[in-house]
Amino acid sequence: MSFNIAIDGPAGAGKSTVAKMAAEKLGFVYVDTGAMYRTIALYMLDSHIDVDDGKALVDALGKIEIGIRYEDGVQRMLLNGADVSGRIRTKEVSAQASVTAVKPQVRAKLLDLQRNLAKKEDVIMDGRDIGTRILPDAGLKIFLTASSAERARRRFDELREKGEKCDYEEIRKEIEERDYRDMHREEAPLKQADDAVFLDTSDISAEEAADRIVSLAKERMER
Ligand code: CDP
Repeated sequence: MSFNIAIDGPAGAGKSTVAKMAAEKLGFVYVDTGAMYRTIALYMLDSHIDVDDGKALVDALGKIEIGIRYEDGVQRMLLNGADVSGRIRTKEVSAQASVTAVKPQVRAKLLDLQRNLAKKEDVIMDGRDIGTRILPDAGLKIFLTASSAERARRRFDELREKGEKCDYEEIRKEIEERDYRDMHREEAPLKQADDAVFLDTSDISAEEAADRIVSLAKERMER
């Protein structure tokens, strides 16, 4: 049986950086579920679908085939065969992803895909509802967070490095809006699982957070 690690937490807590590092140290596969929601959101934006129109949403979901490929351990996202890994990282897609992710039909489409990946291999999967819903029996659950000021600062640095024009206060506001939507939606809201380990990364580096996860995972696997 595979050993799975679930990492949940708000936008910009460093989940993907930390999860990638820990996956490498443990030899696990890193699964970024946010990228899947982003891929669906990109399709909705490209096709001008109003996701509040139930019929249009279901029709669109029927036309989407999501593929995942690993290149040197890096997850690539395919939308109907085309690699969209770069295109899903814009601000517009971030906002649309959290709007699209409230829809139960969208979450249902991704549930099996995510569970099947975890069944086959040892994975570190990050998202919002991994410990609470997708992998309730994960061997280790982490709730990774940081203050919204720190998370906005990280996102600001990341965008600046990519050469995107951005404003710190605007990013902070967007992050807080997204947190609110993610935590208050009816369907699989973001919340810490009862048996998750709480890890605040405001004052520790990604490397330190990854090491903590690795040592917790090793302890659990030995049990
Ligand atoms: O990287 P960042 O934390 O900004 O976001 P992400 O993990 O790529 O996820 C983008 C959006 O998808 C989130 O704001 C959530 O609304 C949604 N999402 C979700 O609902 N459930 C997941 N398991 C992963 C993401």
